[in-house]
Amino acid sequence: MASPGGVDPSRRHLALVGLSGSGKSSVAPILATRLALLPVDLDERISGATGSTVPELFDRVGETPFRWIESRILESVLDGPDAVIATGGGVVLASANRRALRARCRVVWLRTPIDVLVARLAVDDQERPLLRGDAATSLRRLSAEREALYAEVADVVVDTGVLEPEAVADAVEEELEGD
Ligand code: S3P
Repeated sequence: MASPGGVDPSRRHLALVGLSGSGKSSVAPILATRLALLPVDLDERISGATGSTVPELFDRVGETPFRWIESRILESVLDGPDAVIATGGGVVLASANRRALRARCRVVWLRTPIDVLVARLAVDDQERPLLRGDAATSLRRLSAEREALYAEVADVVVDTGVLEPEAVADAVEEELEGD
């Protein structure tokens, strides 16, 4: 397949975007192995850098500082080795992040039907601060707020349906070949 940096050497990373539950964190390591790139999970990097889990950070400092930290960690990942980056679902909220993703990554939107996400995540999800309580309602709201932002950054869109991660990775590779 075409190298993720093949079209434009400045866009040497591959970034996966999409809502929570779309499979970014499961698919990124598979693609990284296949493409001989570094697998990076942005939420894990945030935890590593701060010593706190994402829910702990939300509870301790709130969403606005979390987003600031998320942007700084994204910058440092983009300055690092060529990677397949599983982003957090809200990374597209900041326009600077969207610009950086567009400039420095090929971006794949893992688009999953909201009903599938609801079935996967509609439990009181303590790991995902924005989905605590009524996760289904929150997911629908986040989807409505973010669809245009995912579309804005995405080079290709992969409709995951209920596919397993390996099959999603196959679909990503196919879409990137045709891009
Ligand atoms: C968030 C998604 C989470 C995590 C944080 C905020 C969001 O990542 O970054 O809870 O705003 O959608 P996942 O997309 O990996 O769940």
